[in-house]
Amino acid sequence: PIVPAPQPASPDVLRDSPFLKACRREPAEITPVWLMRQAGRYMSEYRELRAKVSFLDLCKRPELATEVTVTAAEVLGVDAAILFADILLILEPLGFQLEFTKGEGPAIHNPVREAGDVDRVRPLQTAEPLGFVADAVRSIRAALNPATPLIGFAGAPFTVACYAIEGGGSRHYEKAKAFMYRDEGAWNVLMSRLVDATAIYLNSQVAAGAQAVQLFDSWVGTLSPADYRRFVQPHMRRLFGQLDPSVPSIHFGTDTGLLLTLQRDAGGSVIGLDWRVELDEAWDRLGPSVAVQGNLDPVVLFAPLPEIERQVGRILDQAGGRPGHIFNLGHGILPKTPVDHVRALIDMVHEKTSRN
Ligand code: CP3
Repeated sequence: PIVPAPQPASPDVLRDSPFLKACRREPAEITPVWLMRQAGRYMSEYRELRAKVSFLDLCKRPELATEVTVTAAEVLGVDAAILFADILLILEPLGFQLEFTKGEGPAIHNPVREAGDVDRVRPLQTAEPLGFVADAVRSIRAALNPATPLIGFAGAPFTVACYAIEGGGSRHYEKAKAFMYRDEGAWNVLMSRLVDATAIYLNSQVAAGAQAVQLFDSWVGTLSPADYRRFVQPHMRRLFGQLDPSVPSIHFGTDTGLLLTLQRDAGGSVIGLDWRVELDEAWDRLGPSVAVQGNLDPVVLFAPLPEIERQVGRILDQAGGRPGHIFNLGHGILPKTPVDHVRALIDMVHEKTSRN
Protein backbone atom coordinates (compact mmCIF):
# COMPACT_ATOMS: atom_id res chain seq x y z
CA PRO A 1 0.00 0.00 0.00
CA ILE A 2 1.23 3.48 -0.83
CA VAL A 3 1.00 5.76 2.19
CA PRO A 4 1.04 9.42 1.16
CA ALA A 5 3.56 11.68 2.89
CA PRO A 6 1.88 13.93 5.46
CA GLN A 7 1.69 17.51 4.24
CA PRO A 8 3.50 20.04 6.42
CA ALA A 9 1.22 22.54 8.16
CA SER A 10 2.32 25.32 5.84
CA PRO A 11 4.57 24.41 2.92
CA ASP A 12 5.68 28.02 2.47
CA VAL A 13 7.42 28.31 5.86
CA LEU A 14 9.66 25.48 4.72
CA ARG A 15 10.17 26.83 1.23
CA ASP A 16 11.04 30.25 2.66
CA SER A 17 13.39 28.90 5.34
CA PRO A 18 16.93 30.35 5.32
CA PHE A 19 18.36 26.89 4.60
CA LEU A 20 16.29 26.26 1.47
CA LYS A 21 16.76 29.85 0.30
CA ALA A 22 20.51 29.38 0.57
CA CYS A 23 20.30 26.08 -1.34
CA ARG A 24 18.64 28.07 -4.14
CA ARG A 25 21.23 30.88 -3.80
CA GLU A 26 18.57 33.38 -2.75
CA PRO A 27 19.27 36.04 -0.09
CA ALA A 28 18.15 34.99 3.41
CA GLU A 29 17.58 36.82 6.72
CA ILE A 30 20.48 34.95 8.29
CA THR A 31 23.20 32.59 7.14
CA PRO A 32 21.68 29.17 7.87
CA VAL A 33 23.75 26.75 9.93
CA TRP A 34 23.53 23.04 10.70
CA LEU A 35 26.29 20.57 11.55
CA MET A 36 27.18 17.19 10.15
CA ARG A 37 26.77 14.55 12.89
CA GLN A 38 24.82 17.06 14.98
CA ALA A 39 23.13 14.08 16.65
CA GLY A 40 25.84 11.95 18.22
CA ARG A 41 27.94 10.95 21.16
CA TYR A 42 29.06 14.47 22.11
CA MET A 43 25.47 15.05 23.30
CA SER A 44 24.38 13.69 26.71
CA GLU A 45 20.81 13.01 25.54
CA TYR A 46 22.24 10.76 22.79
CA ARG A 47 24.60 8.92 25.14
CA GLU A 48 21.75 8.20 27.56
CA LEU A 49 19.64 6.63 24.83
CA ARG A 50 22.66 4.72 23.43
CA ALA A 51 23.32 3.21 26.84
CA LYS A 52 20.04 1.34 26.39
CA VAL A 53 19.98 0.44 22.66
CA SER A 54 22.48 -0.55 20.00
CA PHE A 55 23.37 1.87 17.23
CA LEU A 56 21.61 -0.23 14.58
CA ASP A 57 18.46 -0.38 16.71
CA LEU A 58 18.52 3.41 17.00
CA CYS A 59 18.62 3.59 13.22
CA LYS A 60 15.95 0.95 12.69
CA ARG A 61 13.36 2.14 15.20
CA PRO A 62 11.68 5.22 13.74
CA GLU A 63 10.45 6.50 17.12
CA LEU A 64 14.04 6.48 18.45
CA ALA A 65 15.56 7.96 15.29
CA THR A 66 12.92 10.68 15.58
CA GLU A 67 13.79 11.43 19.19
CA VAL A 68 17.51 11.69 18.41
CA THR A 69 17.03 13.85 15.30
CA VAL A 70 14.54 16.27 16.82
CA THR A 71 16.34 16.62 20.16
CA ALA A 72 19.61 17.55 18.45
CA ALA A 73 17.91 20.14 16.23
CA GLU A 74 16.08 21.69 19.19
CA VAL A 75 18.98 21.70 21.67
CA LEU A 76 21.22 23.40 19.12
CA GLY A 77 18.73 25.76 17.47
CA VAL A 78 20.04 24.87 14.00
CA ASP A 79 18.38 25.83 10.71
CA ALA A 80 18.01 22.27 9.42
CA ALA A 81 17.66 18.81 10.89
CA ILE A 82 19.39 15.75 9.45
CA LEU A 83 17.77 12.35 9.50
CA PHE A 84 19.38 10.00 12.02
CA ALA A 85 20.63 6.98 10.08
CA ASP A 86 23.93 5.75 8.62
CA ILE A 87 25.46 5.62 5.16
CA LEU A 88 26.10 1.88 5.55
CA LEU A 89 22.47 0.81 6.13
CA ILE A 90 22.00 0.39 2.38
CA LEU A 91 24.53 -2.46 2.38
CA GLU A 92 22.22 -4.90 4.20
CA PRO A 93 19.53 -5.22 1.50
CA LEU A 94 22.32 -5.51 -1.10
CA GLY A 95 23.39 -8.71 0.67
CA PHE A 96 26.17 -7.55 3.02
CA GLN A 97 26.39 -8.54 6.69
CA LEU A 98 26.84 -5.28 8.59
CA GLU A 99 27.81 -4.93 12.22
CA PHE A 100 28.78 -1.96 14.38
CA THR A 101 31.35 -3.26 16.84
CA LYS A 102 32.08 -1.51 20.12
CA GLY A 103 34.94 0.94 19.71
CA GLU A 104 36.04 -0.33 16.32
CA GLY A 105 33.34 1.10 14.10
CA PRO A 106 31.57 -0.67 11.26
CA ALA A 107 32.46 -4.17 10.03
CA ILE A 108 31.22 -5.89 6.86
CA HIS A 109 31.70 -9.62 7.28
CA ASN A 110 31.37 -10.65 3.62
CA PRO A 111 33.24 -7.96 1.68
CA VAL A 112 33.66 -7.91 -2.08
CA ARG A 113 37.24 -8.95 -2.82
CA GLU A 114 37.25 -10.39 -6.33
CA ALA A 115 35.50 -9.49 -9.55
CA GLY A 116 33.20 -12.52 -9.21
CA ASP A 117 31.96 -11.32 -5.80
CA VAL A 118 30.12 -8.46 -7.50
CA ASP A 119 27.60 -10.97 -8.89
CA ARG A 120 26.21 -11.56 -5.42
CA VAL A 121 25.54 -7.85 -4.82
CA ARG A 122 21.77 -7.81 -5.17
CA PRO A 123 20.13 -4.93 -7.03
CA LEU A 124 17.64 -3.00 -4.91
CA GLN A 125 14.28 -3.19 -6.69
CA THR A 126 12.38 -0.91 -4.30
CA ALA A 127 13.13 1.03 -1.12
CA GLU A 128 10.87 -1.32 0.83
CA PRO A 129 13.73 -3.16 2.67
CA LEU A 130 14.81 0.27 3.96
CA GLY A 131 11.24 1.24 4.79
CA PHE A 132 12.19 1.98 8.39
CA VAL A 133 14.14 5.00 7.07
CA ALA A 134 11.16 6.38 5.15
CA ASP A 135 9.05 5.74 8.28
CA ALA A 136 11.60 7.74 10.31
CA VAL A 137 11.42 10.60 7.79
CA ARG A 138 7.61 10.72 8.08
CA SER A 139 7.76 10.56 11.85
CA ILE A 140 10.50 13.22 12.12
CA ARG A 141 8.65 15.51 9.71
CA ALA A 142 5.55 15.22 11.90
CA ALA A 143 7.47 15.93 15.14
CA LEU A 144 9.87 18.62 13.93
CA ASN A 145 9.26 22.37 14.04
CA PRO A 146 7.21 22.92 10.83
CA ALA A 147 9.64 25.67 9.76
CA THR A 148 12.75 23.48 10.03
CA PRO A 149 13.77 21.64 6.85
CA LEU A 150 14.74 17.98 7.13
CA ILE A 151 17.77 16.72 5.22
CA GLY A 152 17.81 13.11 4.03
CA PHE A 153 21.10 11.50 3.07
CA ALA A 154 22.98 8.56 1.66
CA GLY A 155 26.59 7.58 1.19
CA ALA A 156 27.99 8.24 -2.26
CA PRO A 157 28.83 5.09 -4.24
CA PHE A 158 32.62 5.46 -4.01
CA THR A 159 32.60 5.82 -0.23
CA VAL A 160 30.12 2.97 0.24
CA ALA A 161 32.14 0.81 -2.19
CA CYS A 162 35.24 1.44 -0.05
CA TYR A 163 33.43 -0.09 2.95
CA ALA A 164 32.00 -2.94 0.85
CA ILE A 165 35.49 -3.88 -0.39
CA GLU A 166 37.67 -3.05 2.62
CA GLY A 167 35.15 -4.60 5.02
CA GLY A 168 35.48 -1.63 7.36
CA GLY A 169 37.32 1.63 7.81
CA SER A 170 40.69 2.07 6.13
CA ARG A 171 43.55 4.52 5.97
CA HIS A 172 44.75 4.11 2.40
CA TYR A 173 41.87 2.17 0.79
CA GLU A 174 44.39 -0.10 -0.87
CA LYS A 175 41.95 -3.00 -1.32
CA ALA A 176 39.25 -0.80 -2.83
CA LYS A 177 41.62 1.09 -5.11
CA ALA A 178 43.50 -2.06 -6.18
CA PHE A 179 40.12 -3.63 -7.08
CA MET A 180 39.26 -0.56 -9.15
CA TYR A 181 42.60 -0.54 -11.00
CA ARG A 182 42.67 -4.32 -11.48
CA ASP A 183 39.12 -4.87 -12.65
CA GLU A 184 37.53 -1.78 -14.06
CA GLY A 185 34.62 -3.75 -15.51
CA ALA A 186 33.59 -5.30 -12.19
CA TRP A 187 34.16 -1.93 -10.49
CA ASN A 188 31.74 -0.28 -12.91
CA VAL A 189 29.13 -2.98 -12.26
CA LEU A 190 29.46 -2.51 -8.50
CA MET A 191 29.27 1.28 -8.80
CA SER A 192 26.24 1.05 -11.12
CA ARG A 193 24.38 -1.14 -8.62
CA LEU A 194 25.19 1.33 -5.86
CA VAL A 195 24.04 4.26 -8.02
CA ASP A 196 20.68 2.64 -8.77
CA ALA A 197 20.11 1.57 -5.16
CA THR A 198 21.11 5.00 -3.81
CA ALA A 199 18.75 6.84 -6.17
CA ILE A 200 15.80 4.63 -5.14
CA TYR A 201 16.70 5.09 -1.48
CA LEU A 202 17.12 8.88 -1.62
CA ASN A 203 13.97 9.36 -3.67
CA SER A 204 12.06 7.34 -1.07
CA GLN A 205 13.29 9.78 1.59
CA VAL A 206 12.08 12.73 -0.49
CA ALA A 207 8.71 11.06 -1.10
CA ALA A 208 8.42 10.55 2.67
CA GLY A 209 8.95 14.26 3.34
CA ALA A 210 12.66 15.25 3.25
CA GLN A 211 13.26 18.79 1.93
CA ALA A 212 16.83 18.20 0.68
CA VAL A 213 19.32 15.36 0.35
CA GLN A 214 23.03 15.14 0.98
CA LEU A 215 25.43 12.66 -0.59
CA PHE A 216 28.38 11.87 1.68
CA ASP A 217 31.42 11.07 -0.46
CA SER A 218 33.55 11.24 2.65
CA TRP A 219 36.56 9.28 1.37
CA VAL A 220 36.68 10.33 -2.30
CA GLY A 221 39.54 12.73 -1.58
CA THR A 222 41.87 9.74 -1.59
CA LEU A 223 41.66 9.76 -5.43
CA SER A 224 43.70 11.82 -7.88
CA PRO A 225 41.67 14.10 -10.16
CA ALA A 226 42.40 11.80 -13.11
CA ASP A 227 41.14 8.75 -11.22
CA TYR A 228 38.08 10.63 -9.96
CA ARG A 229 37.21 11.57 -13.52
CA ARG A 230 37.62 7.99 -14.74
CA PHE A 231 36.28 5.83 -11.89
CA VAL A 232 33.75 8.01 -10.07
CA GLN A 233 32.51 11.04 -11.97
CA PRO A 234 30.40 9.19 -14.60
CA HIS A 235 28.64 7.29 -11.81
CA MET A 236 27.99 10.43 -9.77
CA ARG A 237 26.63 12.17 -12.84
CA ARG A 238 24.23 9.29 -13.42
CA LEU A 239 23.20 9.31 -9.76
CA PHE A 240 22.41 13.02 -9.68
CA GLY A 241 20.49 12.56 -12.93
CA GLN A 242 18.21 10.02 -11.22
CA LEU A 243 17.44 12.11 -8.13
CA ASP A 244 14.04 13.72 -7.62
CA PRO A 245 14.61 17.21 -9.10
CA SER A 246 12.08 18.84 -6.76
CA VAL A 247 14.57 19.12 -3.87
CA PRO A 248 18.12 20.51 -3.66
CA SER A 249 21.04 18.12 -3.29
CA ILE A 250 24.26 18.66 -1.35
CA HIS A 251 27.42 17.06 -2.74
CA PHE A 252 29.91 16.60 0.10
CA GLY A 253 33.38 15.13 0.40
CA THR A 254 36.60 15.73 2.32
CA ASP A 255 40.13 16.34 1.05
CA THR A 256 38.48 17.41 -2.18
CA GLY A 257 40.39 20.65 -2.84
CA LEU A 258 41.53 19.40 -6.24
CA LEU A 259 38.27 17.63 -7.09
CA LEU A 260 35.76 20.41 -6.48
CA THR A 261 35.09 21.44 -10.05
CA LEU A 262 34.86 17.78 -11.11
CA GLN A 263 32.34 17.20 -8.32
CA ARG A 264 30.38 20.28 -9.39
CA ASP A 265 30.26 18.97 -12.96
CA ALA A 266 28.93 15.64 -11.68
CA GLY A 267 26.00 17.33 -9.94
CA GLY A 268 24.53 18.89 -6.82
CA SER A 269 23.02 22.30 -6.08
CA VAL A 270 25.31 22.78 -3.06
CA ILE A 271 28.97 21.74 -2.84
CA GLY A 272 30.39 20.81 0.58
CA LEU A 273 33.83 22.23 1.45
CA ASP A 274 36.19 20.93 4.10
CA TRP A 275 38.55 23.18 6.09
CA ARG A 276 41.60 22.49 3.91
CA VAL A 277 40.37 25.00 1.33
CA GLU A 278 39.73 28.74 1.66
CA LEU A 279 35.99 29.21 1.24
CA ASP A 280 36.28 32.31 -0.98
CA GLU A 281 38.94 30.81 -3.23
CA ALA A 282 37.02 27.52 -3.56
CA TRP A 283 33.74 29.32 -4.33
CA ASP A 284 35.49 31.47 -6.95
CA ARG A 285 36.73 28.32 -8.63
CA LEU A 286 33.30 26.69 -8.45
CA GLY A 287 31.61 29.77 -9.86
CA PRO A 288 28.11 31.15 -9.35
CA SER A 289 26.13 28.09 -10.45
CA VAL A 290 26.33 26.40 -7.04
CA ALA A 291 25.82 27.21 -3.37
CA VAL A 292 28.51 26.15 -0.88
CA GLN A 293 28.40 24.53 2.55
CA GLY A 294 31.14 24.63 5.17
CA ASN A 295 33.80 24.86 6.29
CA LEU A 296 34.98 25.18 9.92
CA ASP A 297 37.54 22.60 11.10
CA PRO A 298 35.59 20.42 13.60
CA VAL A 299 38.62 20.53 15.92
CA VAL A 300 38.24 24.32 16.26
CA LEU A 301 35.25 23.52 18.51
CA PHE A 302 37.78 22.33 21.12
CA ALA A 303 39.38 25.81 21.16
CA PRO A 304 38.42 28.63 23.56
CA LEU A 305 35.36 30.64 22.51
CA PRO A 306 37.30 33.74 21.31
CA GLU A 307 39.26 31.58 18.86
CA ILE A 308 36.05 29.92 17.63
CA GLU A 309 34.59 33.37 17.13
CA ARG A 310 37.63 34.53 15.16
CA GLN A 311 37.45 31.53 12.84
CA VAL A 312 33.69 31.85 12.35
CA GLY A 313 34.19 35.54 11.52
CA ARG A 314 36.85 34.66 8.98
CA ILE A 315 34.60 32.17 7.16
CA LEU A 316 31.69 34.61 7.13
CA ASP A 317 33.99 37.35 5.80
CA GLN A 318 35.08 35.02 3.02
CA ALA A 319 31.46 34.27 2.15
CA GLY A 320 31.01 38.04 2.11
CA GLY A 321 27.24 37.89 2.39
CA ARG A 322 26.96 36.24 -1.04
CA PRO A 323 23.60 34.42 -1.21
CA GLY A 324 24.10 30.68 -1.13
CA HIS A 325 26.35 30.03 1.86
CA ILE A 326 25.25 27.37 4.35
CA PHE A 327 27.47 27.42 7.42
CA ASN A 328 28.65 23.98 8.58
CA LEU A 329 31.76 22.21 9.72
CA GLY A 330 34.18 20.81 7.15
CA HIS A 331 33.36 17.30 8.45
CA GLY A 332 31.30 15.74 11.26
CA ILE A 333 31.37 16.79 14.92
CA LEU A 334 33.85 14.71 16.92
CA PRO A 335 32.53 12.61 19.84
CA LYS A 336 34.29 14.57 22.63
CA THR A 337 33.30 18.05 21.41
CA PRO A 338 32.06 20.35 24.25
CA VAL A 339 28.34 20.80 23.67
CA ASP A 340 28.35 24.38 25.02
CA HIS A 341 30.85 25.33 22.32
CA VAL A 342 28.59 23.83 19.69
CA ARG A 343 25.65 25.87 20.91
CA ALA A 344 27.81 28.99 21.08
CA LEU A 345 28.87 28.40 17.47
CA ILE A 346 25.26 28.33 16.26
CA ASP A 347 24.51 31.57 18.12
CA MET A 348 27.62 33.25 16.72
CA VAL A 349 26.63 32.50 13.13
CA HIS A 350 23.13 33.83 13.73
CA GLU A 351 24.28 36.95 15.58
CA LYS A 352 26.95 37.84 13.07
CA THR A 353 24.67 37.43 10.07
CA SER A 354 21.22 38.58 11.14
CA ARG A 355 20.16 40.94 8.38
CA ASN A 356 16.52 41.34 9.46
O1 CP3 B 1 24.81 13.86 10.78
C1 CP3 B 1 24.00 13.30 11.53
O2 CP3 B 1 23.79 13.65 12.71
C2 CP3 B 1 23.17 12.14 10.98
C3 CP3 B 1 23.61 10.85 11.33
C4 CP3 B 1 24.83 10.23 10.68
C5 CP3 B 1 25.56 9.19 11.29
N1 CP3 B 1 26.47 8.71 10.40
C6 CP3 B 1 25.32 8.67 12.65
C7 CP3 B 1 26.34 7.86 13.30
C8 CP3 B 1 25.39 10.43 9.42
C9 CP3 B 1 25.05 11.46 8.37
C10 CP3 B 1 26.40 9.45 9.26
C11 CP3 B 1 27.18 9.28 8.02
C12 CP3 B 1 28.33 8.36 8.03
N2 CP3 B 1 28.42 7.14 8.59
C13 CP3 B 1 29.51 8.58 7.32
C14 CP3 B 1 29.78 9.76 6.46
C15 CP3 B 1 29.93 10.97 7.31
C16 CP3 B 1 31.32 11.35 7.51
O3 CP3 B 1 31.72 11.41 8.68
O4 CP3 B 1 31.96 11.64 6.52
C17 CP3 B 1 30.35 7.49 7.51
C18 CP3 B 1 31.74 7.30 6.97
C19 CP3 B 1 29.64 6.57 8.31
C20 CP3 B 1 30.08 5.22 8.72
C21 CP3 B 1 30.19 5.15 10.18
N3 CP3 B 1 29.14 5.14 11.05
C22 CP3 B 1 31.38 5.05 10.94
C23 CP3 B 1 32.78 5.05 10.36
C24 CP3 B 1 31.00 4.95 12.27
C25 CP3 B 1 31.91 4.66 13.43
C26 CP3 B 1 32.70 5.84 13.81
C27 CP3 B 1 32.03 6.49 14.96
O5 CP3 B 1 31.91 7.70 14.97
O6 CP3 B 1 31.66 5.73 15.88
C28 CP3 B 1 29.60 5.07 12.34
C29 CP3 B 1 28.75 5.07 13.53
C30 CP3 B 1 27.86 6.26 13.72
N4 CP3 B 1 27.07 6.83 12.74
C31 CP3 B 1 27.61 6.93 14.95
C32 CP3 B 1 26.66 7.92 14.68
C33 CP3 B 1 26.02 8.85 15.68
C34 CP3 B 1 28.21 6.56 16.28
C35 CP3 B 1 27.55 5.32 16.74
C36 CP3 B 1 27.52 5.19 18.23
O7 CP3 B 1 26.56 5.65 18.84
O8 CP3 B 1 28.44 4.56 18.78
